[in-house]
Amino acid sequence: MKIAVLPGDGIGPEVIGAAVDVLNHVTPDLETMYGDVGLECFSRRGEYLPEDTIDLIKHSDAVLFGAITTPLKAEGYRSPILRIRKEFDLYANLRPVRNPAPGIGLVDMDIVIVRENTEGMYTGDETVDAEGVDLRRRVSRAASERICRFARDLSETHKRKRITCVHKANVLRKSDGLFRDVFYEVMEGSIIESRDMIVDAAAAALVSNPQEMDVIVTLNLYGDILSDEAAALAGGLGIAPSANLGDRHALFEPVHGSAPDIAGMGIANPTAAFLTTAMMLEHIGRIEEAVRIRDAVTASLSAGHRTRDLGGGLGTIDFTKQVLSRL
Ligand code: NAD
Ligand code: IPM
Ligand code: MN
Repeated sequence: MKIAVLPGDGIGPEVIGAAVDVLNHVTPDLETMYGDVGLECFSRRGEYLPEDTIDLIKHSDAVLFGAITTPLKAEGYRSPILRIRKEFDLYANLRPVRNPAPGIGLVDMDIVIVRENTEGMYTGDETVDAEGVDLRRRVSRAASERICRFARDLSETHKRKRITCVHKANVLRKSDGLFRDVFYEVMEGSIIESRDMIVDAAAAALVSNPQEMDVIVTLNLYGDILSDEAAALAGGLGIAPSANLGDRHALFEPVHGSAPDIAGMGIANPTAAFLTTAMMLEHIGRIEEAVRIRDAVTASLSAGHRTRDLGGGLGTIDFTKQVLSRL
């Protein structure tokens, strides 16, 4: 099995470096191959997503991605991660959010956000005129159907109780209305309870009734925002993993970004990267090793070993040593 490792920039290389130590420890037989992507790659090579990186992804069984910084001003810039999601048709963005150990986080939660990953507000199709900018936003029946089916099948397999379809169909009546209609069509006959909620109310419900949330299926931008919110409630951006799944390819990345405010300081929390690695191992069938990583993370945190964002004093390397010592 070949794993393409794309650390990116900012804290990406710090947390992915730690994650690869963990990966090599539990699955020494996996081959890791490194690829360039992001702002630091641009400064060296003049491109954000080189062709050899695309090739590496094509020939890998899974991709472990860190984070990349969006340049503030760059004419014609297209985010490499958005390009990868689109070009490899990674249509399902799976973002489970739960407290990584008891007592961590503002509220107790165990939810799964299933985010449509290829269209919605993310078409990038903006047209500038003298007065302003138009955005063409796309909601297709096909993409809505496959993400709702994905959420339904995942909920049935993992014995979840309820799916909440999150939308803004009260305003975006035709587009989000289509997403909501397709959701109920897909859910017909399923044993999973289905309901829908408008996105602003869902944002409030996540804070006030997190235990009533279970699986959320939603459009691209709402899923982006709600997943940062949920992560913050369950312990912070340092703890939330994610998977970008298609029928042929899969890319795994922490929910957080490149965190330029703490990059290079050695204090980034690698927990999200560890749990992302566990999701990747689960995906390629290495369930036992995935469980070992999750257990070692929980045990380290429960024993009080924590990075600064979780109120502790450990740096990335020292926290990683704690996790490695429990593997
Ligand atoms: P961010 O997620 O990078 O950081 C938000 C806050 O959370 C910061 O204060 C940061 O220090 C903290 N944080 C994030 N991860 C942490 C960790 N592992 N440990 C401790 N603290 C952590 O979001 P931002 O600051 O809005 O974005 C920074 C850059 O990252 C932007 O250029 C953005 O476009 C990019 N971004 C990239 C990705 C990705 O590559 N997948 C995802 C989100 C944002
Ligand atoms: C995420 C990120 C990306 C997104 C950015 C970096 C394009 O915020 O993966 O959550 O908006 O999807
Ligand atoms: Mn995001």
